Amino acid sequence: DFAPAKHRPLYGRRILITAGPTHEPIDPVRYIANRSSGKQGFAIAEAAAAAGAEVLLIAGPVPLPTPPGVIRVDVETAVEMAEEVRQGLPVDAAIMVAAVADWRAADPAGQKIKKDRSGAVPPLALAENPDILAGVATSAERPTLLIGFAAETNDVIAHAEAKLARKGCDWIVANDVAADPMGGESNRVHIVSKDGIDSWDRLPKAAVARKLMEKIADELDARSP
Ligand code: CTP
Ligand code: CA
Repeated sequence: DFAPAKHRPLYGRRILITAGPTHEPIDPVRYIANRSSGKQGFAIAEAAAAAGAEVLLIAGPVPLPTPPGVIRVDVETAVEMAEEVRQGLPVDAAIMVAAVADWRAADPAGQKIKKDRSGAVPPLALAENPDILAGVATSAERPTLLIGFAAETNDVIAHAEAKLARKGCDWIVANDVAADPMGGESNRVHIVSKDGIDSWDRLPKAAVARKLMEKIADELDARSP
């Protein structure tokens, strides 16, 4: 895209994006994680930068290259991600694509946990992680446009509508991970907002990202010209 910078649709906008999974240590060699590849979040960061935005990408542990023109901060845990997000505000739009682990080990061991020779298994007590998206929604620096993602296996729209209300964000981008397994190359997304549901065809993740940037640029132009 060789359009002059100031003619790009997100020129002058600051956008924060979270991406990837988080890793929650159990002991120095083990962790709790999930199947997030980070691909959709990184594609969104790339598209936002290409659309002219100043992009801060807060990434969980994924072996992906940093997209051109993107400022990247790597984190491991949900608590670290929450802190980096807080420091990244204020922004015009925040897009929370990360699959944040819902729980961490309540009391991670300082040394590798060894097997009990009698066969007894160790207990794993969990603590709930902070909800980063809900926290941003109620912060004094709430972005003009706050977007969450939701990967669901069933009742996609109903879960997304409930999440929109619970999280206090403007849009939920929902996708059916039963139809498009996590880690794949494409997504069929539904953008759920108070104005209704915008369902897109299945598209490669880069195309979802570009289309989302057009929609975000229009929305920011309407909300804060
Ligand atoms: N999210 C977050 N912090 C968390 C959990 C989720 O910021 N601790 C964000 C995700 O990045 C995503 C949105 O919230 O944008 C929805 O995540 P999801 O896991 O679908 O929501 P939960 O409230 O955790 O509900 P569920 O029980 O379905 O996992
Ligand atoms: Ca969750």
